[in-house]
Order: sequence, then C-alpha cells, then structure tokens
Amino acid sequence: MTSSEVWDEETAARYDAEAAAHFAPEVLDPTVDLLERLAEGGPALEFAIGTGRVGIPLAARGVPVTGIELSEPMVTQLRGKVTEEQVPVIVGDMTTTVAPGAGSFSLVFLVWNSIANLRTQAEQVQCFRNAAHHLRPGGRFVIDLWVPPIQRLLPGEEAVPMSLDDEHLVFDTYDLVTQECASHHYYRSEDGSVRHGVGHFRYLWPSECDLMAQLAGLELESRSADWQGSPFLSTSDHHVSVWRKK
Ligand SMILES: C[S@@+](CC[C@H](N)C(=O)[O-])C[C@H]1O[C@@H](n2cnc3c(N)ncnc32)[C@H](O)[C@@H]1O
Repeated sequence: MTSSEVWDEETAARYDAEAAAHFAPEVLDPTVDLLERLAEGGPALEFAIGTGRVGIPLAARGVPVTGIELSEPMVTQLRGKVTEEQVPVIVGDMTTTVAPGAGSFSLVFLVWNSIANLRTQAEQVQCFRNAAHHLRPGGRFVIDLWVPPIQRLLPGEEAVPMSLDDEHLVFDTYDLVTQECASHHYYRSEDGSVRHGVGHFRYLWPSECDLMAQLAGLELESRSADWQGSPFLSTSDHHVSVWRKK
C-alpha cells in the first residue's frame, strides 16, 4: 500500500496546462540533453512518468523509454500523445513495480521532486532499491529534487513562500520532526475565482539521498545545482544527482 496521493482525473486533465512553464524548451531541453547523454545509447526507465513531459521527448531522441506511473488518469493523458509501442507504461507503484528488462536499463530517472511524493523514509529507500534493481552494472539513477528551504523558516514559524505571482501563489509548510511538507497552491482563474490545492510530501536532504543510494548499492557520480551542470553550493535550492550502480 503506497503512501502517495493518487492523482485523479481532474488533476491529470489540468496537469500539462498548469505545468506549461516546465514544458518550455529552456527547461526541458537541458533535462533531455543530460538524460540522453547519461543513457549512453541504452534503454531508460522513468519512475512517475506522469503525462510524459520528459519521457516522450527523450524517446523522440531515439532513447527507448519505459515508464512506471501510479495514476491511471495521468497515463490516459500520456496515451493521448504516444502509443504503447512508442512509450510503454506500467501502472504501478515505483517502489515495488518491476518493468520488463529489469537489470538491463542504462538509466532510471525520477524528476521534478517526485521522490518526495513517497511520504515515508522506508518507501524512499525502497525506491532507490527498485531503481538499482532495474539498472545494469554501471547504469545510472538520476533524480532532481528541491533542497528543503529550512534556512528560510523564521524561528517558530512553519511556512515558507515558494512562488508569488499574479496567477499562482505557493507556500510550503514544514514539520521539522516528521519531515512532512505540505505545498499549498492558490490558482487565480480568468474570472477572478481562486482554486486551492494541497500536495503532501516527505522532504529529504541530499545527504539522506546519498545514504539511501548507498543502501541500494549505488555510488554518487555527480551532483549539480541544475540540469546545465552548475556547481552545487550551500546556497543551491535544487540538485540534480547522479548515482551509478557498482
Ligand atoms: C510532479 S508529477 C511528475 C510527472 C512527470 N515525471 C513530469 O516531470 O512531468 C509526479 C508524478 O508522480 C506520480 N507518483 C506519485 N507517487 C507515485 C508512486 N508511488 N509510484 C509511481 N508514480 C507516482 C504522480 O501520479 C505524478 O504523475
């Protein structure tokens, strides 16, 4: 039984429009460039493939991509863009689902903070183990993840503003004991009405990711602040991390 929230039909139908900025070539191209390079011509597996934002353009570059995705409605959206032959997807939990070809993938990737959709430490560890299980020796596991902005919390406060623009306001709340995070989104519609949605996550640190990787038999190859390879610094709010299977 997964701790993840299951994305429903309405959320899936809105996903691409609300994530439009993340489909922009300046965001997507460097992501796909790096993943294509890291796959080294071998097959790739995307955990939590969603509507195929990254997996589909990667497959269009000639990298064979398989997906695992928990939400059937998200897969239905993906199927409006590509066939099962072009990008096969298994509906299931990325901590336990095993894709055909397990043990032969060059690359497993899990992008846009999605490891944090797993809301227990045990499941996050299991996710690293499942990634390692799918990789060939020398294959890579890549995640991109925000660095929890705990240093921006005022003493005694639990909320941090994450994005403040006219159409979309986001603030996160953090529980420092349980590492639970709730992301509160307020979207303003054209008619002026406001829609509120909350996503629940478990935040984790880069060093905690490394320990999970170690438990899964993976070792850190690189960590950057973004997909372009900028150095990861103490001020970075994001990391793209690459581990290799020994
Ligand atoms: C932020 S979206 C990212 C989708 C896509 N990778 C992208 O970059 O656009 C998070 C996705 O994780 C999926 N997800 C959440 N928990 C999951 C789980 N336990 N196993 C597989 N997919 C999961 C959700 O259904 C959703 O499609």
